[in-house]
Amino acid sequence: MNKRKKIALIGAGQIGGTLGLLVGMRKLGDVVMFDIVEGLPQGKALDISHLAPVFGLDFDIRGTNDMKDIAGADVCIVTSGVPRKPGMSRDDLVGINTNIIKTVAAGIREHAPNALVIVITNPLDVMAYVMQRETGFPAERVVGMAGVLDTARHQSFLAKELDVSVNSVSAFVLGGHGDTMVPVRSYTTVNGIPIEKMIQPARLGEIEDRTRQAGGEIVALLKTGSAFYSPAAAAIQMVEAYLFDEKRLLACAACCKGQYGVDGLYLGVPVIFGAKGIEKIIEIDLTNDEKALLQKSVDAVQSVVESLK
Ligand code: APR
Repeated sequence: MNKRKKIALIGAGQIGGTLGLLVGMRKLGDVVMFDIVEGLPQGKALDISHLAPVFGLDFDIRGTNDMKDIAGADVCIVTSGVPRKPGMSRDDLVGINTNIIKTVAAGIREHAPNALVIVITNPLDVMAYVMQRETGFPAERVVGMAGVLDTARHQSFLAKELDVSVNSVSAFVLGGHGDTMVPVRSYTTVNGIPIEKMIQPARLGEIEDRTRQAGGEIVALLKTGSAFYSPAAAAIQMVEAYLFDEKRLLACAACCKGQYGVDGLYLGVPVIFGAKGIEKIIEIDLTNDEKALLQKSVDAVQSVVESLK
C-alpha cells in the first residue's frame, strides 16, 4: 500500500496558506505548515482541515513552529520571507530574505534531505541559487517557481485579448523573475498559429509589458503584500509534475550549466520536469532580439548574485 506523500510548506503566510488549501483540494498528500510566528500555521492548518469533510477529502494538515516536524518530507515549498510593498522591486528584498533562506536551508538539509525544494521567496532566481548552495542538494532537486507563473500571466492576458480559451494559448516567459523577464514571442501561439498573425506587434508589445509588470500591478492594488493565489497554483503544477512523473515541459528557474551561455546561475528556462525534478534543460533557438533581452535578464540576476558576496 502506498503511503500518502508529505508536503512541507515553509512559511505559512499568504502563499503558504493557499498552498495548504490547494494541496488538499488536489489530493496530493499530507501537509505540514511551518512558520516562525506562533499560532499562524496551527490556525491556518486547523481551518483548512475543517473543509476536508465538506469536499470529502482525506488528508492530514497540521501547523508547527518546529522545523523537526518536516522530517521525511517528499517536497518542501519555501515561501518564508518578506513580500514587497508598493514601490519596491523584488531585488529590494535580497538582504532580508537571503538570511531567512539560509536558516530554512539548514533546516531542510537536516530534516528533509531527500526532498524536492521549490523556492518561491523573492528575488526568486537568487533565492533558489542561495537555497541550492546552502543545502548542497543536487541542482535538479532545487528549483524556483517563476516561469510557470509568468507564463500563466501572459497566457491569461493573451486569452482575454483574443477572447479565446486559456487552453488554446501556448507561451513561454523566460529569464529572471523580474522586470527584465522575456515573453518569447517566437514561441507564442494560439493552438499553433503564430501570435503575430493574431495580434498586431504594437499591441503585442503592450501585452508583453503588462506581463512583465503584472506582479507589480497586483502589489500596487493590494498595497499590503504581493500576489498569492497564482504563485501557489504555479507551484502546485510543479509538484504534480514531480509526484506523478509527468515529464511536463515547463518554464522554471533552473541552475544553468552552460545552457543559454549561463553557468552556475538560476534562470527561467524551459525544462522537462518529472520524478527526478529537473530532468533536462531545453535550449530553444531565439531571435537576436530575444537573445539580447535574455542577456539583459541574465545580467540583472547576476548583479544581484554578486551583491551577495
Ligand atoms: N522561517 C519560516 N517562516 C518565516 C521565516 C523563517 N525564518 N521568516 C519569515 N517567515 C514567514 C513569515 O512569518 C510569514 O508568515 O514567512 C511568511 C511569509 O508570508 P507573507 O508575508 O504572507 O508573504 P507571501 O505573500 O506568502 O510571500 C512570500 O514569496 O512571492 C514571494 O515576494 C514574496 O518573498 C515573498 C514570499
